[in-house]
Amino acid sequence: MRMNYGMRLRIRPASSLLFGAILTAGVAMSAMVGCSGKDSADSPSNSETEAGSASDGAGEEGDGASVLEQQKALAADARTALFQSLLGELTTAMQEDGPAGAIDVCKTSAPALAQKVGTEKGVRIGRTSLQLRNAANQPPDWARDFVDSRKGEEVSVELENGALGVLTPIRLMPPCEVCHGAKESLMPEVQTALADHYPNDEATGYVAGDLRGYFWVEVPRP
Ligand code: HEC
Repeated sequence: MRMNYGMRLRIRPASSLLFGAILTAGVAMSAMVGCSGKDSADSPSNSETEAGSASDGAGEEGDGASVLEQQKALAADARTALFQSLLGELTTAMQEDGPAGAIDVCKTSAPALAQKVGTEKGVRIGRTSLQLRNAANQPPDWARDFVDSRKGEEVSVELENGALGVLTPIRLMPPCEVCHGAKESLMPEVQTALADHYPNDEATGYVAGDLRGYFWVEVPRP
């Protein structure tokens, strides 16, 4: 029904080509995932939380603000690093093993890459969603309400230990539909691989532009 047919015809034969294209478009996507666009621009909770942090740091004069800026910059840096390594890994796996094989690769490499980037950048980082594929991708406690709210806004929160928690929305791109699109439109081998690896998968049924999930980052106070 609806657009499934068209989607299927476009995506099936060309999935790895599309991923080549996505890699080329990595910069544009990275900007999108960084999402300083319409979603966060008019975010009231954004300014609220930032006001909270700023008044916390008020005793330290200008210092508070620059600490916050440093933390935000490091969060963005870590997010870009994780995004690029995930996309690189995904593109290679799609080209070499096809989409079903790429699910195998993603299963082990996605969590491992998050660990690696976190260690390299000195932060904690991960991906999460309201509808999880990997049940281990639960949001950290501070992020749960924001994720549940489905607002899809970027938020930053000062945590009790002085760390900054940053949550950034991830929207679906057309090539992501190969593995996250309407269930009945997925290639049969993708459906099988998902059923094997993720019997409780909640992460299908998306179309391009949908809020798929979030990157979360915890940056310690420098
Ligand atoms: C080859 C199939 C495949 C493609 C294509 C794919 N994903 Fe996924 N996605 C997965 C798998 C497998 C997982 C679970 C991996 C893990 O443990 O993090 C996952 C997990 C995620 C998660 C973490 C939350 C969760 O549900 O566990 C997000 C966010 C996500 N994908 C977004 C995307 C976006 C955005 C794209 C397009 C750029 C994309 N995915 C393309 C297979 C895919």
